Amino acid sequence: MQPSYRSKYNTHVIRIIVILVVLAIAGIGVRAMMIPESFGRYGHYRGEAVVDEMNREIRNGTNASCLPCHPYIKEMHFSGIHKTVSCEFCHGPVAAHIQDGKVIDKLPKKQGEAIKTLCLRCHNQIIRARPRESIKMVEMPKHLEDKKVGIDHTCDQCHNVHAPLMWVKQAKAMMGVVEEEAKQ
Ligand code: HEC
Ligand code: HEC
Ligand code: HEC
Ligand code: HEC
Repeated sequence: MQPSYRSKYNTHVIRIIVILVVLAIAGIGVRAMMIPESFGRYGHYRGEAVVDEMNREIRNGTNASCLPCHPYIKEMHFSGIHKTVSCEFCHGPVAAHIQDGKVIDKLPKKQGEAIKTLCLRCHNQIIRARPRESIKMVEMPKHLEDKKVGIDHTCDQCHNVHAPLMWVKQAKAMMGVVEEEAKQ
């Protein structure tokens, strides 16, 4: 008779299997407890998230939300080449300024060096990905050197922030330089 080589000491295997089964059951239980009720209502995400997003307070208006109260700026802005640029990009969200049609706080208006930083967020030559045919770029400080002024000059000393070519055009007119294109 052949001796059997099968071990009788297999209780450790049974223990491991028992532990795995217990862990699997615990895992299924915890999963059931942790998954939000609305999960899977529309897809592989929490359905209530849609409602949460819909109820979020709207912070930004459009330029139209500013115009009734700022008629002077409105006129400047729409007469100039920045007419397509958002007021809120430069000033912050309307919700920080107006609530229920009333002024609750002032919006910041940048001054000095901060204006330079603001303008260069859109007009800096360094930003390679920006489409040059839609937004003109300047190289700093070359732009100021070309105009023969010190590099401490800020953009608003020559460009009206709301209609950037307005003063440039007027200055050229005063110097008798003819504009090839009529734009402000
Ligand atoms: C309901 C009218 C109203 C609306 C709408 C409104 N504003 Fe104003 N805004 C005011 C008034 C009034 C002041 C002056 C507040 C003060 O001096 O205390 C002011 C002040 C400001 C200032 C600060 C001016 C300063 O001298 O410091 C900025 C910038 C400004 N508004 C931008 C905006 C922008 C951008 C929007 C649209 C997103 C907007 N406002 C919408 C009424 C309005
Ligand atoms: C390109 C950035 C930019 C955009 C776009 C812009 N502003 Fe301004 N605005 C500024 C800066 C910078 C100042 C402060 C410097 C100054 O007054 O010359 C300012 C000043 C103001 C002031 C204060 C004016 C004053 O006489 O003190 C108001 C009000 C204002 N902006 C409203 C608006 C509204 C309304 C729009 C949209 C129609 C708008 N701005 C679009 C940059 C911008
Ligand atoms: C949010 C982006 C943005 C910011 C910030 C911004 N601009 Fe502009 N700017 C534009 C766009 C877009 C145009 C082109 C509009 C068009 O051609 O229809 C423009 C046009 C101009 C032009 C005319 C270029 C030409 O065609 O000759 C000048 C000058 C200018 N901006 C100066 C400034 C100055 C100064 C500031 C800071 C006060 C500034 N911009 C801030 C987007 C911006
Ligand atoms: C000393 C005056 C002066 C200052 C300061 C100045 N600019 Fe200009 N900028 C001009 C003049 C003048 C033009 C008209 C174009 C020309 O004839 O070169 C111009 C043109 C531009 C143009 C259009 C460029 C093109 O290719 O047509 C942009 C964009 C511009 N400036 C942005 C700025 C920004 C941003 C700043 C601040 C960092 C600034 N400028 C500071 C005088 C100035």
